[in-house]
Amino acid sequence: MSAQPLWLRCEKKEFERRAALTPTTAKKLLDAGFDIYVERDEQRIFDDSEYEAVGAKLVEHNSWPKAAANIPIIGLKELPVSDAPLIHTHIQFAHCYKRQAGWSSVLARFNKGGGTLYDLEFLQDANGRRVAAFGYHAGFAGAAAGALAYAAQKKGDTLGQLHPYANEEAMITAVKEALGGSGKGVKALVIGALGRCGRGAVDLFKKIGLDEDDILKWDMAETAKGGPFQEILDVDIFVNCIYLNTPIPHFLDKKQINAAGKNRRLSVVVDVSCDTTNPHNPIPIYNINTTFSHPTVPVDVGPGNPPLSVISIDHLPTLLPREASEQFSSDLLPSLLEFPNRQTAPVWLNAEKLFRQKLAEAVEAEGL
Ligand SMILES: NC(=O)c1ccc[n+]([C@@H]2O[C@H](COP(=O)([O-])OP(=O)(O)OC[C@H]3O[C@@H](n4cnc5c(N)ncnc54)[C@H](O)[C@@H]3O)[C@@H](O)[C@H]2O)c1
Repeated sequence: MSAQPLWLRCEKKEFERRAALTPTTAKKLLDAGFDIYVERDEQRIFDDSEYEAVGAKLVEHNSWPKAAANIPIIGLKELPVSDAPLIHTHIQFAHCYKRQAGWSSVLARFNKGGGTLYDLEFLQDANGRRVAAFGYHAGFAGAAAGALAYAAQKKGDTLGQLHPYANEEAMITAVKEALGGSGKGVKALVIGALGRCGRGAVDLFKKIGLDEDDILKWDMAETAKGGPFQEILDVDIFVNCIYLNTPIPHFLDKKQINAAGKNRRLSVVVDVSCDTTNPHNPIPIYNINTTFSHPTVPVDVGPGNPPLSVISIDHLPTLLPREASEQFSSDLLPSLLEFPNRQTAPVWLNAEKLFRQKLAEAVEAEGL
């Protein structure tokens, strides 16, 4: 049987430095007999030479449209908007299965070109659990951004532009420095603490020096009594990491914040879950997604009351591109190794079935 080819494309989104394949996972695929092509890319956190060193074939930047039709293309984020037909098999996050803006025109490109989409968000194991996700580093980076915003607020400032960190160590050092050496004395509450994002947030708080007792870890059991929760107002930083799938009472609302007046300790809310425009958003105190250039949005707290800001960045793992890529790619690796048997391997078979179903819905919606 001939070698299974796989083509790592560059990412075209601003600030995106993560990669679906890392030099480590590329090497493991090469060892298993894959042919790995890697587009040259200066934006990626890993140098081209790191891929070359493990034996991958380097190809021109953004040249995947010219790749042979039988070579599957792997990437992370959406492709730039276009109506060009897609002839290849693409493995990526496409964000077009939940009727997001423009969903049917993305799928129409596959319909036109005859290509196939395996959406990374929907690759699941036998228990219905995602095989690879970025949650841990989203929570970790979100908690770091929250601590930086808290430190800025204490100095009467607003947190400025955030930049991806070279590695976890650099992030932890920067956060500790902003807090004057350590996070000791800061109090935080993480809701959704048993999930991927929540575990990441808790770990960051531990690593920057918060006392164990000052990290409140809540999940389903603690919120079962129903919000709004006074406990949130009594910490410095609140990080929301829940996976919202049913309407729930608000965790926090403006009435409660205004009523607390000057007796509120809470300074920063980090909404990692980012259900910003969801009508059931449990934190209805803000209504925009913030960005790396403007990481915080102020909450209207009433005159004379201490400030409160929200961070609602929806691509937090980008702040830690190296570790986030390594973890994601190594979690994806067992499924990639099964890719040559995608006609029978459930993880790929189910993902293709879902694609065919969504494609049919898009064909209908677009009147094709
Ligand atoms: N902002 C970002 O950059 C970013 C990146 C990745 C994921 N996310 C989002 O973060 C959210 C969480 O993702 P995850 O991978 O950690 O999910 P997960 O399923 O691993 O964890 C979610 C946790 O929330 C808990 N939970 C759910 N409802 C709750 C409630 N009402 N009260 C208390 N706890 C509750 C669950 O028990 C679970 O422990 C998702 O919405 C995801 O889309 C955001």
